[in-house]
Amino acid sequence: MATEHTYKLAGVMGWPVSHSRSPLIHNHWIAEHGLRGAYVLLPVQPDKLAVALRGLSALGFAGCNLTIPHKVAAMPLVDHLEPLAQRIGAVNTIVVGPDGALTGRNTDAYGFVQSLLDAKPDWRADAGPAVVLGAGGAARAVLAGLIDGGARSIRLCNRSWDKAHDLAQEFGSAIVHAVPWADRHNALDGAALLVNTTSQGMQGESALDLSLDRLPAEALVSDIIYVPLETPLLAAARQRGNATVNGLGMLLNQARPAFEAWFGMRPDVTPALLAQVQATL
Ligand code: ATR
Repeated sequence: MATEHTYKLAGVMGWPVSHSRSPLIHNHWIAEHGLRGAYVLLPVQPDKLAVALRGLSALGFAGCNLTIPHKVAAMPLVDHLEPLAQRIGAVNTIVVGPDGALTGRNTDAYGFVQSLLDAKPDWRADAGPAVVLGAGGAARAVLAGLIDGGARSIRLCNRSWDKAHDLAQEFGSAIVHAVPWADRHNALDGAALLVNTTSQGMQGESALDLSLDRLPAEALVSDIIYVPLETPLLAAARQRGNATVNGLGMLLNQARPAFEAWFGMRPDVTPALLAQVQATL
């Protein structure tokens, strides 16, 4: 007979959190693999984060995901912070150790790179220059993923110049070159990859103002937005023949290493799971 110890709990801590697709994704995998456990919504107000994290172990949680507004705030609250999470400056996954110690991880960089590989299995980070638009939290995960994947040249364009400049310095100016926002159209010259991490193109926001004229036809175009699934940028790229990757792949793939850390096996992104999540968008 199963004991309490074979029943595993995990969840997503956020505020607000009810919109999260993570329960759907993780509970799909729990059912698919016949595991005993559940992944639940954990609505936790910002001033309750520390006490909520400390309660995970006593409640028998294997860990949790963190979303807005907790990803940065959790950094000083964990017992161990993985170097990648430190570099990205955010924790999206907490793993509770056997002794109750909390490890803070970030699986967004993995999720991003894996989403490109799912779309184009022969994709390589060192295939040619990449252009990254935006310099917020999402851009930091994308930069870490590209650099760790072997990228040799990344052009970083952001509306606010100072943020692009500082981020290029922080991640290594030998690889990451800040480009003024006004020069973003020309920055596409010879690029092998274009990634949008800005909020432009998201449902309710205006479209990104970007001419793709200089983008090579072989370049891969990625948008980390998943509502809508096809942003105006991706629609324009597809129409001119570029391969495109929407943000759903990153969302699904960032969940895989987290699930593995808690449940002991790495699940796959199957067509059934994709269809189930897409039906909610
Ligand atoms: P996230 O954590 O998702 O990256 P964020 O940290 O708020 O979110 O970053 C949002 C990004 O979208 C920033 O790079 C922002 O540019 P600024 O640094 O200049 O604010 C970018 N962004 C937001 N609105 C934009 C707009 N209208 N045009 C261009 N970039 C925009």
